[in-house]
Amino acid sequence: MTQRDERALRRQLERYTLRFNDAFWLFWDEEVAPVLPPAPVIVDVGPGPGLFLRDLSERLPDATLHGVDANEAMVENARAIDYAGPVPSLVLANVEGSPLPYDDGSVDLLTMAAVLHGFDDPFSFLREQAARVLKPDGRMLLFDWFRQPMREYVERRLIEPGEPEETRYERALEQFRIHNKYTLDDWLWVFAQSGMRIEAETSEPHPFARVWLLRPE
Ligand SMILES: C[S@@+](CC[C@H](N)C(=O)[O-])C[C@H]1O[C@@H](n2cnc3c(N)ncnc32)[C@H](O)[C@@H]1O
Repeated sequence: MTQRDERALRRQLERYTLRFNDAFWLFWDEEVAPVLPPAPVIVDVGPGPGLFLRDLSERLPDATLHGVDANEAMVENARAIDYAGPVPSLVLANVEGSPLPYDDGSVDLLTMAAVLHGFDDPFSFLREQAARVLKPDGRMLLFDWFRQPMREYVERRLIEPGEPEETRYERALEQFRIHNKYTLDDWLWVFAQSGMRIEAETSEPHPFARVWLLRPE
């Protein structure tokens, strides 16, 4: 594993519960779970180390779970962790510019957390890939960052007890470009251009992110 992979893996393992917290699971219980069929087929695009799939496995004993990730270290980690219920099938593949490795109309819920902002062309992914694999009443659960005023973003990230003065700005800005690529209006425009309608949304789980439940029109 490269040092970079190791850092990314550690960061995701450490920060998972900062996003998939009580507020997220409340949204799940109120808005997502009620629209799923009894034995849903769920695909997590870019599951990273697999912690969301692990939590879905515990909550949905009758689900069929899949994950597809371009990073080998992530896929290895997701394969190695324990699952309380169904064990997901995991595929190593880059799905940007190549088809999602699932049949047309086969998926009840496509989930994607902190992944889509990194795609050069989110339009074709949503319009062609996501819409293609979803069943007619399928949904997409998208969790992604939106742009913050720099001051608020940096000040919030500076709060790290005991950190030396010399490195704190560097660390606070480490993911600045990633987190601030899209404004909220940009996301809404991307959805509208891609034929995705917002069915429900929340910004409660994380101050820099929003969670949308989307449905192809
Ligand atoms: C920031 S991590 C998020 C992991 C997880 N979804 C979470 O929220 O904790 C982004 C993940 O998406 C994967 N990814 C990014 N672009 C991808 C692509 N084009 N195809 C497949 N996986 C991709 C990365 O390898 C990484 O594991």
